[in-house]
Amino acid sequence: MIRINENYLKLRPSYLFSEISRRVAAFQEAHPGKDIIRLGIGDVTRALPKACIDAFHLAVDEMASDSTFKGYGPEQGYAFLREKIARYDYRSRGAEIHADEIFVSDGAKSDTANIQEIFSGDILIAIPDPVYPVYLDTNVMAGRSGDLGDGRYKNIIYLDSTAENGFVPGLPKEKADLIYLCFPNNPTGAVIPKDMLKQWVDYARHNKALILYDAAYEAFIKDGSLPRSIYELEGAREVAIEFRSFSKTAGFTGTRCAYTVVPKSCMAYDSAGGTHSLHSFWNRRQATKFNGVSYPVQKAAEAVYSDEGRAQVKELIGYYMNNASLIRARMQPLGYTCTGGENSPYIWVKTLMDSWDFFDMLLNKAGVVCTPGSGFGRCGQGYIRISAFNSHENVERAIDRIEQVLK
Ligand code: MLT
Repeated sequence: MIRINENYLKLRPSYLFSEISRRVAAFQEAHPGKDIIRLGIGDVTRALPKACIDAFHLAVDEMASDSTFKGYGPEQGYAFLREKIARYDYRSRGAEIHADEIFVSDGAKSDTANIQEIFSGDILIAIPDPVYPVYLDTNVMAGRSGDLGDGRYKNIIYLDSTAENGFVPGLPKEKADLIYLCFPNNPTGAVIPKDMLKQWVDYARHNKALILYDAAYEAFIKDGSLPRSIYELEGAREVAIEFRSFSKTAGFTGTRCAYTVVPKSCMAYDSAGGTHSLHSFWNRRQATKFNGVSYPVQKAAEAVYSDEGRAQVKELIGYYMNNASLIRARMQPLGYTCTGGENSPYIWVKTLMDSWDFFDMLLNKAGVVCTPGSGFGRCGQGYIRISAFNSHENVERAIDRIEQVLK
């Protein structure tokens, strides 16, 4: 008899963004002519930078001729891209990361989901609340979470991120083995100052723990004093894996390209206390289960680092950040406290009512889609997340309509 992985029965019935899509589709079906503005899932709306498109076209043309055609590429990514990443994203900022420590992939979602499989099934996991649901759900699937009780999994250490701690969780009393952190944060938009991130690095070093640092939104940081990478912190190379993506930075949500950094000095332990390189474990995993990102996509990603590419990406980020400023500037006078939107593309709005009720109200009365905060965890109850990823015109129209409803 074929049996299922019963851990799946412990999951919420549907993935947050699928549930939102379902509700929006039902609403659209009931109101066929209604114009809906989507500020829910953080999906970019503007075209790829011209430098990326040009490189993409050229690479497609290379595929059209036998002499330049490419078959399977290296599972870890082409050297031309890994070298640019190491140089421009790390060494230029004083972080000692080398090209062969970078693993190019199809997304930070898949990497943050897959990474847990190289760790033991009985490690103790610390996960922020609210949180990007992928970290939690993939550990539930893998059987690390324990059962649900009172809306929380028994074996997970929840790191509450609340208005009281500025949405930056403090160190837990327990000894966590694996810690997920995401800054600039999805969903709250909060950022972590260097001294607080240093506390996490020290905690991980002290406890022989590991930090999984999701920096998918680092390009949106404007404040120069904030860390863009965990490797800007001394000692992090031994205790942190970092995830980054071209999705939000350069508009690659549909094109798919990201990368994960696993420093060679990053170690984990077996049950006898033996030391193992996580770099070789992740390399082994990727070589077995992944065949790399397509050549044209990696060429398009490489173009992000050209002079024109960098200027175009800067413009793109600035465009979305103008939306973020606008959302903040117009929500706050309505009496809604906002976090985020200053160094991140998400604005976390306190709703003073149930998150899903607020979501339904905005959808039904304003035709605007947001993301209910409670979908990210218990501490998200009473909040919604508004995404700055849309055209300036749509964001203005959405806020006009929200204003009408909330006034
Ligand atoms: C989000 O809206 O939280 C993100 O777009 C989801 C993702 O990156 O997978």
